Amino acid sequence: MKLPVSISWLIIVLVFSIEKTTAQNPLFIPPTLTGTDFQLNVQAGTKTFFSGWNTPTYGINQSFLSPTLIFTKGETVSLHVHNGINTTTTMHWHGLHVPAKEDGGPHQIIEEGETWDATFTVMNDAATYWYHPHGVGKTDIQVSKGLAGLIIVKDSNEASQILPRTYGIDDFPFIVQSKAFDVLYQIAIASELDTVMMVNGTMNPYLDAPAQVVRLRLLNASSLRNYNFGFSNNLTFHQIATDGGLLNAPVSLARVRLAPGERAEILVDLGSLQDQSIYLKNFGSELPTGIYGADTVGNEFIAIPEYHLNPLNGADFNILRINVVTPTATPVTTIPSSLNTITPLNESDASITRTFLLAPQDTIDEQEMVEGPFTINGVQFQMDSINVVTYKNTTEIWKFDNQTMIAHPFHIHDVQFFILDSNGSIPPPNEQGKKDMVLVMPMQNARVIMKFEDYVDDSIPYMFHCHMLHHEDDGMMGSFLVMDSSNTSILEIKEQYPISIFPNPVHDFTTITLAEVHDEEVSLKVIDILGKECKIQQQTFAQNIQLDVSSLSAGIYFITVNTGKKILTGKLVKQ
Ligand code: C2O
Ligand code: CU
Ligand code: CU
Repeated sequence: MKLPVSISWLIIVLVFSIEKTTAQNPLFIPPTLTGTDFQLNVQAGTKTFFSGWNTPTYGINQSFLSPTLIFTKGETVSLHVHNGINTTTTMHWHGLHVPAKEDGGPHQIIEEGETWDATFTVMNDAATYWYHPHGVGKTDIQVSKGLAGLIIVKDSNEASQILPRTYGIDDFPFIVQSKAFDVLYQIAIASELDTVMMVNGTMNPYLDAPAQVVRLRLLNASSLRNYNFGFSNNLTFHQIATDGGLLNAPVSLARVRLAPGERAEILVDLGSLQDQSIYLKNFGSELPTGIYGADTVGNEFIAIPEYHLNPLNGADFNILRINVVTPTATPVTTIPSSLNTITPLNESDASITRTFLLAPQDTIDEQEMVEGPFTINGVQFQMDSINVVTYKNTTEIWKFDNQTMIAHPFHIHDVQFFILDSNGSIPPPNEQGKKDMVLVMPMQNARVIMKFEDYVDDSIPYMFHCHMLHHEDDGMMGSFLVMDSSNTSILEIKEQYPISIFPNPVHDFTTITLAEVHDEEVSLKVIDILGKECKIQQQTFAQNIQLDVSSLSAGIYFITVNTGKKILTGKLVKQ
């Protein structure tokens, strides 16, 4: 339902101010599921967030939210996902290295009433991962309504450390989300009025935590919002894990910034704070311009509608109160000095660099610079096209070149990567571990390096996408195949990169985008399946080229672009 701005805004302001005065609620700790066989029933329910109103929700094995899955590295797990809601869904294991057909991306659709079985060996290092639906155009609504859960992976290295690890006692899950509600208290999507904060689905939460070293597993499961976490007393804390594993050593911080999809495990020493209360806060006023959650995105001429009306933007606010209580019988009281030995990938290990241009779909429309819809290399996600093909055991650098005025948190399935640099600068120490998320700042770039290992599939792709769920749902996503290097039949697809052709299939006009060609003289040919040249264009290539194919008859054509250095090919379907 689309409401006039003024009406929806009035109601949301009301909600926001009521909530400031209501009592604090004990933080809900999602139940855990352990073992190797997991039954996950996706179901619909309702929850009373605002008294007198039932809000429709989704959950797994409960009416709202999803249980925490505990996996052990090396074990093979089976997950049976039953779809009990009246729409299709999928279930993706975010951050886990699993075969493409078990990944739960947009291609592993679970029909209503059906059960999808995923089986894989847990190969990831101990860290905090998560799981959520991934249907085309459905991720935001299904995650926002409650389908988000943590996955805690344990391994022998982590077990050998002196760390808090008693779930719900000294080791706490924090699924942080901002949600938008409409006038009927329904969870809304694609709204910049995400004014209601929740941790583990609890509004205005408090947690009784023991006066000792505790571990917080922070997940930003918000659709759009970035957080700059810290404590009300500016307490120093210690980040021990990134998205995909323990850091080499704890990194002392006063703030940790998490983009949508990102996780951090932190140790907080509450030892000297017994009987006191502190708040986990968002220091939004410190976020740089262009990050959703900062004071501004865009500039004085280009802005997201309603953005400035949201009181959370650019604000410092409390997220959760921690009441420090009596310590446990055997508390952890120290911060370890070392945790892990990470072997990073080096730039020289990479055999290929790919560039991904993040741009508005309509490059003329300035408003799209902050609002989208956004494209990757000129195209939007299509279920039946493959954007990138790579081979098992290759190491690649992916450069995300953000040509928009909003920061995009980029995520790549299948792998844990290392961030090489952000606009040329090496990442801060707390981002030097294994990652599956990188925040690409507005009008800047970021480079990550990864190796595609173990699993191959000739036809089922993995995804890469922006993890702002509205952007993802709007098509800011691409697919990649990891093939066996002995399979030569796909040479044609391989060469298709890095030409993007959109739309494709096409009636009259299509746009061709070359990620790695700038202002070069190229010649472009359209060749039919019999090898006949139907069209030749010679021109200077500035990223995008308009191609008029209105005179061609329906069928399949090959596009070749000769840059003088290399010939790139793509396939075009004329309707
Ligand atoms: Cu968290 Cu492709 O997803
Ligand atoms: Cu993922
Ligand atoms: Cu984005």
